[in-house]
Parts: sequence; structure tokens; C-alpha cells
Amino acid sequence: MTYNKHILWAFTAALATGWVLSNDEGCYYGTVMKHSCNWTCMLLTLQWPGSFCIGLTNKTICKIPLTIQNWTIHGLWPMHTGHCCNCWPIFHSHLQEIEPELTQLWPSLIKGKHFFNFWREEWIKHGTCAGCDGAMGSPLLYFQAAVKLRKLFDINSVLESSGIKASCEVSYKYDDISKALTSLLGDNFDLQCVTDSKGREAWIQLKIHLSRNQTIGCPTEKQDEAFYNLAWYKSPGHPCPKNTTIFFVPINYDNPHEPCN
Ligand SMILES: *[C@@H]1O[C@H](CO)[C@@H](O)[C@H](O)[C@H]1NC(C)=O
Ligand SMILES: *[C@@H]1O[C@H](CO)[C@@H](O)[C@H](O)[C@H]1NC(C)=O
Ligand SMILES: *[C@@H]1O[C@H](CO)[C@@H](O)[C@H](O)[C@H]1NC(C)=O
Ligand SMILES: *[C@@H]1O[C@H](CO)[C@@H](O)[C@H](O)[C@H]1NC(C)=O
Ligand SMILES: *[C@@H]1O[C@H](CO)[C@@H](O)[C@H](O)[C@H]1NC(C)=O
Repeated sequence: MTYNKHILWAFTAALATGWVLSNDEGCYYGTVMKHSCNWTCMLLTLQWPGSFCIGLTNKTICKIPLTIQNWTIHGLWPMHTGHCCNCWPIFHSHLQEIEPELTQLWPSLIKGKHFFNFWREEWIKHGTCAGCDGAMGSPLLYFQAAVKLRKLFDINSVLESSGIKASCEVSYKYDDISKALTSLLGDNFDLQCVTDSKGREAWIQLKIHLSRNQTIGCPTEKQDEAFYNLAWYKSPGHPCPKNTTIFFVPINYDNPHEPCN
């Protein structure tokens, strides 16, 4: 029911805006929906602004707005190995009513990049597949779902109450960070790290496993092994190592590329 409704919506929107049904990637509504709608799990990927810029090869392109002091959203990603599409248009006006929240919780940290461009990229890469689910079946619904989930998981607070503070001096064992998160997330998460110029491991992302219905956790047998090998899934960084300690670096607004140098 909702499925049909949202295809109809996309169809109508496409016609209204003059989009055609297929594009040069061979994207076609019926087919795309069929190919990329059979996912059962999602990842809410949060990024830590303090270490985000360490992972970038171009050392001049990062900028962390002073208002950003907290974990931000990288994306809400259905776990599928097929393709999403750029055939479901998104316009800035779609997001107007939640723009203040998105600006705070889902900023681009790339200098000069309009935040909407980041949101649009995420919608094209991931949101159009998420949109197969009626609860996320429009650009606004998808971004609202991500914001709601981000607020539900108050990572800063659980870390703080476990004594895990951003620092260039103190580093933490994998298990210490993991234990702090367990109260909130169970074991439904992955930690990603980047290696800085001095060989230190810095925590950069937290991927929270969710079911399609936006509840925490996803049955392991439903997780698609092939998914974990996708290039875009792995980038940036790598799983945080367990054989060395991990830095949770402070946000350095003046020198975001080398926050601890
Ligand atoms: C989903 O559909 C794609 C394309 O038809 C297929 O390759 C993939 O195995 C399916 N995944 C699941 C979990 O059914
Ligand atoms: C790095 O980014 C800046 C700003 O966008 C650009 O001017 C410069 O050419 C980039 N450098 C490299 C090596 O890509
Ligand atoms: C981080 O966000 C949470 C809500 O998600 C909020 O309770 C907390 O005060 C924020 N911390 C900072 C330092 O902004
Ligand atoms: C959400 O999906 C999970 C896994 O399929 C299921 O166990 C759970 O009962 C569902 N929760 C709700 C509220 O529908
Ligand atoms: C930790 O293990 C990884 C891979 O297993 C290895 O490459 C790395 O050198 C090890 N680091 C330390 C500090 O032992």
C-alpha cells in the first residue's frame, strides 16, 4: 500500500519536474525499486568531527563550524549491495522544516561545500533505497528518521558518564569504549578508526546497527556479508584495532587536520 503510494509519489514528482523515467545509468523506477528494496538492516553512521579531517588526504579542505561540538550524522544507510538511484529528485525546499536541525546534526565538514549538497548526495546514495520503506518514503521522512535516531542515541552523554573524554594525552582501550556504549547500544555497533600522521589510532565513526523498522539491532544472519566488502562501506578508515589504544581526539577548530599536533 505505502509502497505503491511512494512509487506513485516519485512518479508524479518526476513528471512534475520534467525528469524522465530513465537516465544514463539505466535507472528506471520499477526496476530500481525492485533491486534495492530487499534490505532488512540499516546503519546509522555517526562521525566524530574531531578526527574527521585526519582521514582526508587534501589537508586544506576541512572546516568545522564552531557551532559543531558533538557527534554528527554521516548517513543512514540501508545494508544492500545493489544500487540506489539518482532518479528520485530531492530539492532544498523538501527539507526546509528540519533545516535548523540538519544544520546542527548533519553538517558538511568540507570547506565551502553547501550542506544541502551533502544531504543530496546521501539521499541519492542511500536515501532512495531507504525510501522503499514507507516510514522513510520521502526525502523529508528519511531525514527526519535520521535526526530522530541521532537524538535517541546520545553518544556524548554515555561516553562522558563513563569517563571517556576527548583528549590528546589519554587514550582508551577498545574494550573501555565498547563497554561505555553497551549500555545504550548493546553489541549493535562497529567502531571505525583512522591512523594519524604519528601512527596513532583515532576513533572517527560509530556505526549503529538498526532493523528496517528503525529499532536497535539487526539479526546477524540478516547482515549481508558482501555489504562489508563494499568500498563505500569501508571508507574512511578501518575497524578500530583491539591490540592498541585508541584516541578520542578533541575538536581542534584551528587545525582540524592535525588536532593533536
Ligand atoms: C536483493 O536483491 C539483489 C538483486 O536482485 C540480490 O542480488 C540480493 O542477493 C538480494 N538480497 C537479499 C538479502 O535478498
Ligand atoms: C585541495 O583543496 C583545495 C580547496 O578545495 C584545492 O584548491 C586544491 O587544489 C586541493 N589540492 C589537491 C592536491 O587536491
Ligand atoms: C550533544 O548532543 C546531546 C543530544 O544528542 C546533548 O544532550 C548534549 O548536550 C550535546 N553536547 C554538546 C557538548 O553539545
Ligand atoms: C522491528 O524489527 C525487528 C526485527 O525484524 C523485530 O524483532 C521487532 O519486533 C520490530 N519492532 C517493532 C516495534 O516493530
Ligand atoms: C595490531 O594488529 C594489526 C593487524 O592484525 C597489525 O597490523 C598491527 O601492527 C598491530 N599493532 C600493534 C601495535 O601490535
